[in-house]
Amino acid sequence: MSARDRDLWIFGYGSLVWRPDFPFVERKPGWIHGWARRFWQASTDHRGVPEDPGRVVTLVPAPEARCWGMTYRVEPEAAPRVLAGLDHREKGGYRRITTQVMLPAGDSLPEVVMYLATEDNPNYAGPASLDEIAARVRRCRGPSGPNVEYVLRLAEALRALGAEPAEDDHVFELAARVQDG
Ligand code: SIN
Repeated sequence: MSARDRDLWIFGYGSLVWRPDFPFVERKPGWIHGWARRFWQASTDHRGVPEDPGRVVTLVPAPEARCWGMTYRVEPEAAPRVLAGLDHREKGGYRRITTQVMLPAGDSLPEVVMYLATEDNPNYAGPASLDEIAARVRRCRGPSGPNVEYVLRLAEALRALGAEPAEDDHVFELAARVQDG
């Protein structure tokens, strides 16, 4: 097995798209099948506080959907430290799973780590209207900064990596409402 085969790949679809805070040697935009990005996860430790939780993204099953994000290659020597750091950063309800990431060139990466907050986690907020989510986002801030920043930076990063507006209208609509407010 070559060192390259032991590389760790990480897929980010939320803050990990625009604020990776770990050492990586390469990054590639890509997408995963069967998931839709939604601001249905409450944040009590980054973009809100326990008394007034903000909203961040998780993924919900959607058989026809694809979700664009950023995939990072991390060298094997750095992998344990990077994973420990991410486990801590994503501790507000996310668990580590592996997934297949499709790349625009037509190939794919078979075993990529990502963090998913499923319905059974204590911070799962579930569906709400965009107006409700926007009002909360405008109001909330947490140790990592204003919730508005998370929404706007994510929308900006998704546009930059080529996400189709129609596939991410939930994010782009929310960004427009947050900005108008
Ligand atoms: C991710 O970015 O992939 C997970 C969710 C987040 O940290 O916003």
